[in-house]
Amino acid sequence: MADIWVRKSLSDLREEAAVAESEEHGGGHLKRSLSALNLVALGVGGIVGAGIFVLTGHAAAANAGPAVLLSFVLGAFACAFAGLCYAEMASTVPISGSAYTYAYATIGELPAWIIGWDLILEYAVGAVTVAIGWSGYFVSLLADFGIHLPPQLTAAPLAYDSALRTWSSTGAIVNLPAMAIVAAISALLVVGIQESARFNTVIVAIKLAVIAIFLVCAAPMVSTANWVTAGNPDGAFIPPNAGTGIFGWSGVLRGAAVVFFAYIGFDAISTTAQEAKNPQRDLPIGILGSLAICTLLYVAVAFVLTGIVPYDQLNVPDPIAVGIDAAGIGWLSPIVKLGIVTGLTSVILVLLLGQTRVLRAMAHDGLMPKRAAATHPRFRTPHVATIVIGILVAGLAGVLPIGLVGELVSIGTLFAFAVVCVAVLVMRIRHPEYHRPFRVAAIWLVAPAGAAVSFVLMLGLPLDTWLRLGGWLAIGLAIYAVYGRHHSKAAQRVK
Ligand code: ALA
Repeated sequence: MADIWVRKSLSDLREEAAVAESEEHGGGHLKRSLSALNLVALGVGGIVGAGIFVLTGHAAAANAGPAVLLSFVLGAFACAFAGLCYAEMASTVPISGSAYTYAYATIGELPAWIIGWDLILEYAVGAVTVAIGWSGYFVSLLADFGIHLPPQLTAAPLAYDSALRTWSSTGAIVNLPAMAIVAAISALLVVGIQESARFNTVIVAIKLAVIAIFLVCAAPMVSTANWVTAGNPDGAFIPPNAGTGIFGWSGVLRGAAVVFFAYIGFDAISTTAQEAKNPQRDLPIGILGSLAICTLLYVAVAFVLTGIVPYDQLNVPDPIAVGIDAAGIGWLSPIVKLGIVTGLTSVILVLLLGQTRVLRAMAHDGLMPKRAAATHPRFRTPHVATIVIGILVAGLAGVLPIGLVGELVSIGTLFAFAVVCVAVLVMRIRHPEYHRPFRVAAIWLVAPAGAAVSFVLMLGLPLDTWLRLGGWLAIGLAIYAVYGRHHSKAAQRVK
């Protein structure tokens, strides 16, 4: 029987990467063209998206009030601990499978498979979620210009209310814009990593400019009265608790679990390890640099937004637009909407990029069909993995409701974060001799704290999200039992 705990040593991983780079897969190898700046831009491109533009308002209105600011700080802590662990792992094991590869190198094949399978929730389902969000903004932007797409073709057939946990029919057939954007971005990813990175950099510049304009124009309109919570004679920043997860400190925690989605994406940079020019130095810069930039931006946006609009008016799909109206700067509205539509495309790009690299790594190891590891001879991109993922994500984005997928992405990502925090410790214990160009100080505090905070944020998510995660992992285990276990290259090697 195959050994489900088989591990890969760093030298195995390096050797395999070198073999892959010498044209093993019927074509060229991945192209090393990404600089440190490209990596930071990819991080920001992947992070800033639906989370800050949509979920901030919901978390303020339903969970934390003005203290959504604290939810963002809490989310940033969870990500900083995990980000440090990712940075150390990425500099020690600069191979493109990210958390999947780290688990393979430290814990064993079965846990690696589970994490690889779990990462589908983060990257593929994440791309589905953001593509649906993109479609909503795109349709509304076109409507502002008098162009009305048929409603039957711009939404999924069923809607899901994640607060009430109920389904309803929308009367629509399929979400075509969501499918189209995934198809377009997948095509770009097939054509080239450099082309994709350049596109991303332009989008990031636009996105940051739009947020900066919003902050500068809205900040003078902030009224501190909005931070004094209604019905609270003490004027506390945190509204009084009204049930688990509804205001009070439990609301701040639930809010952190909700806005955690806004931070997802920085870890995707580690999947480009084999396309970075100097991965051991630049991956930590990309991961930590993008996280730091986004944390500052998020805290600033939460601060200004809750300062210009009373928090109970923010439970809308477009809280930034509500903020703009409240601040009396309506002229900014179309610019911001255009910025958001543009900005969401880079999130989809980075999440798809991450998914294709993880799938390629798993296929390369024999845990997924080998064809998915192929590299295009001219474009030097994993074209098969990209096309397969593109078709799957586009199909799901066409029919799934946004309320169903968002929390699933968060729980899947938090699970991967917790595992990477454990993996970094296991690596320190088993292989203290490995060269670590980026080494976390106080790892014995940082890694357990990262795992603990990730777990606490997972606890902030509702039971049915946990059940869906359990169901998804059970499907993954079944697939491993009937396929991966028998095709694994590492297990065959040690037989
Ligand atoms: N962090 C990304 C977003 O908020 C996934 O859209």
